[in-house]
Amino acid sequence: MSHISKTNPTHSTLCLHYMVSVFRAAKQNWFILVLACVTSSLVFRHLIVVSDLQLSRTLLNGDEPETVVGTDTGGEKTEDGGGMVEDTKSSETVFDIDNREPAFKLVTKTDEKPSIEGNRAYGKILDELHLQETCQQDPSTVVIDVGAGLGTFGLYAAACGCTVYMFEAQPDLVKLIHSSIRQNSFTSPPVNVTQRAVMDLASHTTIDFTPPEGAGSNTESVSVETIRLDDISWPSQSIYVLKIDAAGTELNVLRSAKSLFAQKRIRHLFFEYTPWLGNQESQKNLLSYVRRDLKARFMYNLYRTEEIFYGPLVPMHFPTLHDRVSQSRTEASIYVLLDGRATKSSINSRPFPMNNR
Ligand SMILES: *[C@@H]1O[C@H](CO)[C@@H](O)[C@H](O)[C@H]1NC(C)=O
Repeated sequence: MSHISKTNPTHSTLCLHYMVSVFRAAKQNWFILVLACVTSSLVFRHLIVVSDLQLSRTLLNGDEPETVVGTDTGGEKTEDGGGMVEDTKSSETVFDIDNREPAFKLVTKTDEKPSIEGNRAYGKILDELHLQETCQQDPSTVVIDVGAGLGTFGLYAAACGCTVYMFEAQPDLVKLIHSSIRQNSFTSPPVNVTQRAVMDLASHTTIDFTPPEGAGSNTESVSVETIRLDDISWPSQSIYVLKIDAAGTELNVLRSAKSLFAQKRIRHLFFEYTPWLGNQESQKNLLSYVRRDLKARFMYNLYRTEEIFYGPLVPMHFPTLHDRVSQSRTEASIYVLLDGRATKSSINSRPFPMNNR
């Protein structure tokens, strides 16, 4: 069934207002927050589908058809973007990611919603990067997406007109990225996907790579070749942004780009901060490594649930942030401005809370 229902503005606004008040009320109470998010999404999805299909009469009769509500899986356009468009093959679904300009198509496995949704930290970082303006002025602007997953970030950068390098170790995800590239009619170059694990080992080392749980893929171990970012001949002297989502191996990825950082060729860096994954010793050192060895100009931390930059972070904050995120297993991101000329005032931030937030 190729039904497409669209959320009308009233629903989005209503939902947004509801979410804002819930966030305010539940700031200190994560259980309530999570519960409220789950119920609200269920309730609003229900409302949207029911009103769009004008089923109120059916509802009055008390026999709401299960199957109609069922078509809603990924079907409606949500506040955060993502409307199902069509099925390509039976196992793939194409989403329109249109929560910001420019829109692009993202292919996922059927019934899997793109993870961009609801990630406010990610949206905030994208705002900060001004990718579209930057890449339109200079299409040789390089964007690197390590641990591309479905390619959400890299494909957005490609839609902006940037020169994009995506790295993904899992073959089934690489296949989906290639489908997305076809759907968007992107070409190589400027869009390049490499099925390798970025590591601080000699390039072409074969390793057993075990995908992390919940990465939208099976967790069977695959044999994959490694690559160091320093070993690639980049088409441009400067790299505008390096994004890393490497399930706890972020330090290894950064070390593989040691000379790129030493030559100050990378301007913006952001990575998922999941210190409970991977080598615990490395994870304890990650933030100081970024600060000291990579000579970070300004560092901030962000959370999936809030559009706020906390920082700039100083070394005194690192152990607190490490422990807090490790214990709560919150999905946090770190944004790093490496540009030596940057001033503090360019980012609107809140001080890092040493006690709690
Ligand atoms: C894509 O990038 C890899 C390095 O990751 C490079 O070896 C390859 O030549 C590139 N392909 C194209 C078509 O530019």
